[in-house]
Amino acid sequence: MEKCTSKKKGIFSTSVLGNEQIGECFYRLSLAIEGKAVEAFSTTKPGQFAEFELSNASLPSVEQIPNELADKALRQIILRRPFSFSDIEIAGNKGKLEVLYCVLGPATLRMKTLAAGDKISLIGPLGNGFSIEREKSLAILVAGGMGVPPLLHLAKELSKSNTKTIAFVGARSCSQLPCSEIKNVQTLISTDDGSIGFKGFVTAMLKEWLIKEKPDATKTIIYTCGPEIMMAGVAKIAAEFNIACQVSLERVMACGTGLCQGCAVKCIDKKTQEVGYKLCCKDGPVFWANEVIF
Ligand SMILES: Cc1cc2nc3c(=O)[nH]c(=O)nc-3n(C[C@H](O)[C@H](O)[C@H](O)COP(=O)(O)OP(=O)(O)OC[C@H]3O[C@@H](n4cnc5c(N)ncnc54)[C@H](O)[C@@H]3O)c2cc1C
Ligand code: FES
Repeated sequence: MEKCTSKKKGIFSTSVLGNEQIGECFYRLSLAIEGKAVEAFSTTKPGQFAEFELSNASLPSVEQIPNELADKALRQIILRRPFSFSDIEIAGNKGKLEVLYCVLGPATLRMKTLAAGDKISLIGPLGNGFSIEREKSLAILVAGGMGVPPLLHLAKELSKSNTKTIAFVGARSCSQLPCSEIKNVQTLISTDDGSIGFKGFVTAMLKEWLIKEKPDATKTIIYTCGPEIMMAGVAKIAAEFNIACQVSLERVMACGTGLCQGCAVKCIDKKTQEVGYKLCCKDGPVFWANEVIF
């Protein structure tokens, strides 16, 4: 997989256009960019990300803080937080970045309070992003929970090529689904509790589908993002069916630029069989599934 490609990355000020709740647990943040940021983000690949500065955003009122986050909420936000994009639109010298997020801790709690006109700083674009393999005629997207956002962006990019795309989206239950379909793409849903779609793990649904449909492995590619245990399952299925597979990994990231060495991913060199570490922020977050030791 290619290393971080963007020579145009920088620190940019963005302006909040909107921040809406789109489900029980999910929010959509839209940011306006202009000037050099437009140049930097116009070539951003799906799966690339940015480090967001959220320390200056306000906390929600006490009543709006879920009990389970009450202690965490007061923690200082020392580090920026990484987020990928669900969409990027560029028109002339203006642009819009879209982020789908769920509230997990102090930074995302603050993110919730951002309103139109607020400014937030981000460093990006960072990381490598998914690589679109033009010779593949079928792309299978497999998303688990909050792994959906970069795959929405990828689906849009794939729609510009001749690649047929099908998406498998899994979540614990209906209320935990960030979206019930990916625009213009046949989307199959699974929930662990069966509240909507296939009852069971998204990996089980994928395997059933592969057995039934028997796509040509040489012309097929799987792209996946979600909980690491799910991606390990997808990687195993891809290997079993001999299908190329790219995984977008997550690590807690301090710098996001390769300096702190804190986001190690254990990998194997396929030629030499040597085991070593790569950096999720710089060499990833997207890796070939068969190079990652899960
Ligand atoms: C490349 C990349 C892209 C991402 N894209 C998105 C996105 O599009 N939408 C989205 O909602 N989130 C995304 N994340 C995760 C996001 O960075 C974390 O949810 C966020 O940092 C949580 O900050 P917090 O202060 O609210 O919670 P914290 O208190 O920092 O974390 C809350 C809980 O989440 C865990 N956590 C924190 N950061 C991560 C992480 N990076 N990976 C796994 N677990 C983590 C913590 O261990 C803790 O249990 C992405 C992460 C990476 C590395
Ligand atoms: S986050 Fe610092 S090296 Fe990756």
